[in-house]
Amino acid sequence: MLLKNAPVLFNEQVAANLYHVGFECPDIARRVQPGQFLMIRVAREFDPLLRRPFAVHRLESACIEILYRVVGRGTSILAGLTPGDSINILGPLGRGFRLPSGGGPILLVAGGIGIAPLPFLAEILLAAGNTGPHYLLFGAGKAEELVCVDHLEDLGFVTTVVTEDGSSGEKGLVTDHLERWLDGQQQLPVLIYSCGPYAMQRKVAHCALRFGIPCQLSMEALMACGVGACLGCSLRCKPPASETEPYYANVCQHGPVFTAEEIIWEQC
Ligand SMILES: Cc1cc2nc3c(=O)[nH]c(=O)nc-3n(C[C@H](O)[C@H](O)[C@H](O)COP(=O)(O)OP(=O)(O)OC[C@H]3O[C@@H](n4cnc5c(N)ncnc54)[C@H](O)[C@@H]3O)c2cc1C
Ligand code: FES
Repeated sequence: MLLKNAPVLFNEQVAANLYHVGFECPDIARRVQPGQFLMIRVAREFDPLLRRPFAVHRLESACIEILYRVVGRGTSILAGLTPGDSINILGPLGRGFRLPSGGGPILLVAGGIGIAPLPFLAEILLAAGNTGPHYLLFGAGKAEELVCVDHLEDLGFVTTVVTEDGSSGEKGLVTDHLERWLDGQQQLPVLIYSCGPYAMQRKVAHCALRFGIPCQLSMEALMACGVGACLGCSLRCKPPASETEPYYANVCQHGPVFTAEEIIWEQC
């Protein structure tokens, strides 16, 4: 884990509340794995005091890219940064996605800003020689939130989009579509990777368990320290093989990526 100042190279608005920022940080770029995250201090001064967690969206050599949604004070400050400004980063943090050991179809499931870590994962999967076929199911509120689709299609991912208002693709929730999609597949995916809001993740996990497909989910939690010190990001998990009692994992330290089997979904 490193602590670095990094100059902002670009910070562009890509949809109504969505921004794409790139900053130069070769030392962290060399170490980071897909699914890991960074804790970013968005202002020079200590207000807001707490760093904000963001997944790495893509790497372009020494440039680390993040895709973010403006939801509050920290992300509003981030959206105001321009090239030449500097941000302070702690990372890489957490346990990222594990790559499959063999070949076979891979399915990515994204909900809204949950698309953020998936292009980096997709690029690493391809670089590791995974021949697929590769699929993306992407659900969002409306069409304009469906960012990165072209990029993933260019990488060879067969993409299906679902929007809640029906402005693009099928109308509804991505999880409803997931079940039908799996029912219709002659060859099931060997692995599902998922990122999105909690309610979506729970349904994706149940669906994967029902079809017997290994599934890794990047989980969100409110975070203060990002390194396992404050215990503010706990997630109730099943006991490890040698234990009998459930335990609270720290999303920042033991995750953010968990398997579907690890989490006690009913009690979170
Ligand atoms: C491991 C991890 C990776 C993340 N990666 C990304 C990413 O790639 N892109 C992205 O846009 N966001 C990501 N997030 C969420 C992001 O950290 C929050 O949106 C951000 O911290 C909000 O800061 P703020 O100061 O703008 O909002 P605040 O003023 O702190 O909060 C505004 C609203 O957002 C809610 N909120 C704040 N943090 C979270 C959170 N972690 N989860 C759910 N709701 C939250 C608050 O409850 C509140 O309703 C990630 C979160 C985690 C834990
Ligand atoms: S954010 Fe402090 S323990 Fe996870």
